[in-house]
Amino acid sequence: MTPSRVSAEDKDAAILVVDDHAFNLELMEGLLYREGYRVLTAPDAETALGLFRKEEVDLAILDVMMPGMNGYDLCRKLKSMTDRRFFPVVLVTALSEMEDKITGLEAGADDFLTKPFHTMELVTKIRSLLRLRKLQSHLDHSEDVILTLAIAIEAKDPYTKGHSERVGSLSMELGGFLGMSEDDRDSLFKAGVLHDIGKLGIEDRVLHKAEDLTDQEAKLVKDHVLIGETICMPLSSARHILPVIRNHHERWDGQGFPDRLKGKDIPLFARIVAITDSFDAMVSLRPYRSPFTIDEAVGRMKAEKFLGQWDPDILEGFIEMMKNQRGFII
Ligand SMILES: [Fe+2]
Repeated sequence: MTPSRVSAEDKDAAILVVDDHAFNLELMEGLLYREGYRVLTAPDAETALGLFRKEEVDLAILDVMMPGMNGYDLCRKLKSMTDRRFFPVVLVTALSEMEDKITGLEAGADDFLTKPFHTMELVTKIRSLLRLRKLQSHLDHSEDVILTLAIAIEAKDPYTKGHSERVGSLSMELGGFLGMSEDDRDSLFKAGVLHDIGKLGIEDRVLHKAEDLTDQEAKLVKDHVLIGETICMPLSSARHILPVIRNHHERWDGQGFPDRLKGKDIPLFARIVAITDSFDAMVSLRPYRSPFTIDEAVGRMKAEKFLGQWDPDILEGFIEMMKNQRGFII
């Protein structure tokens, strides 16, 4: 019989089932197959990890009590191995103790099944987790589109080509040097890539003008921070980097734009990206000048710090990083 109950969005979803009891494994395999899923089974954690490395898996159902590596540790391991933002794991336990659930949640489990369970309970949980996974991958995709767009826009102009990506990488590196978490470094990379996305809304004629800008043109260019914020506003995964897009032209002394924020009122990531953005712009070629050497750029930024432009601690950190990690003599 051809399975037919699976919805279009779950089509081809592969489910990994891990249980040391052959009977449970067969039961689960039959049930999920009838629902239309592709099923991979493993009697222990080691086999499961082998399958996970080879196959594309969309969701895992793990028995908690297994000899060798138990379900909690296997859950933790699978979550650390996946490159997806959301890989759903259901833990199956004979116990319904709160303590077991807390251990499961700590291991990263997304849902639980307590034995004995009803078939419909299992199927409903799987459907809703796969729906969430699908939604999440759409969000990731939207974010990729915007990141790609940001890079593509720059590619049109040989003078700014690669600037945003370099600002992203440098900001991420500085975050690491300042002891920030992996999530924060990841956000700093995205923030760096997207910080000037608002330039999309400004005419090239104004953006690349070699002569002095008129007051009206200067106002238009400044608006890129607001345009960028509006472009990224609907993207839920970019919400935490909106303050960088809006506030990367604020100054430590409160004389920047658009909000004239001062000191630590300026979001931390925006203070970081402001420094890496300016540094990369200085050491890059522009139509109206040759690139500065690294020494010249750092010297200039130190002077600007005294004039109140930069967060002094972050600038010091940036200079230290350049000395230590890049071996430059500054
Ligand atoms: Fe900018």
